[in-house]
Amino acid sequence: MRLLFLGDIVGRPGRKAVIDALPGLRRRYALDFVIINGENAAGGFGITEAILEELIAAGADVVTLGNHAFDQKEALVFIERHERLIRPINYPQGTPGRGATLLKSAGGAEVLVINAMGRIFMPELDCPFRAIDAEITACRLKQGADAIVIDFHAEATSEKQAMGYFVDGRASAVIGTHTHAPTADERVLPSGTAFISDVGMCGDYNSVLGMDVEEPISRFLTKIPRQRFEPARGPATLSGLAVEIDDKTGLAVRCGALRMGPNLEPAEPAFWAA
Ligand SMILES: [Fe+2]
Ligand SMILES: [Fe+2]
Repeated sequence: MRLLFLGDIVGRPGRKAVIDALPGLRRRYALDFVIINGENAAGGFGITEAILEELIAAGADVVTLGNHAFDQKEALVFIERHERLIRPINYPQGTPGRGATLLKSAGGAEVLVINAMGRIFMPELDCPFRAIDAEITACRLKQGADAIVIDFHAEATSEKQAMGYFVDGRASAVIGTHTHAPTADERVLPSGTAFISDVGMCGDYNSVLGMDVEEPISRFLTKIPRQRFEPARGPATLSGLAVEIDDKTGLAVRCGALRMGPNLEPAEPAFWAA
């Protein structure tokens, strides 16, 4: 099975890049399943129902979220209607929406996608390790699901790497999101889980984390917020992780970075290029 995960979409440039490229990518690479983090899709903050529907129409199977999940208040309501939109599973009990979803891929495989949030330099949610453990114990790889993909939305690389090894051999992939800067440590862990500390963003990299540089610099210099953070308006670069999953075991065979666009060195997974 061929899976593509794209990192946090930031604002209109990120949405445009994804919507323009995704149908072609699905065809070119014969993708079975596509997951996108959409927590910054609406002007950099949260997601609206109209944007969610655009992303699904463009070819996203699942859209994940993070600490910005509910920045657009309408998400508190419409999230209940959409099985393809998930927010971190370790929010307190009673939070609207779901933290995991089980859906069929293009080829008919059952894919369990889980979103969780780290706790280092982040809002203190419930324990993400215990929440994920409970989920992948209730729905085991090759028993309840043909593939299990975890979007671990966290700041600290230590917490992300610990999560990778915690579920190694029990999930197909653990993909880090949230920092908006891709790391170069993608690999398949010893027991078969594909891993990257952070997949990066789909946004304008000529920016500070996708935002126009002026306000972030001013806040570092003066400590006074002067205006809203606005997404940088230049063309966005797609940043993702390609994962090849063994249909028999549900574990990863290979993974590789996919980066397309200006301001970032391009990357194409060699095992898909042919
Ligand atoms: Fe983000
Ligand atoms: Fe985030």
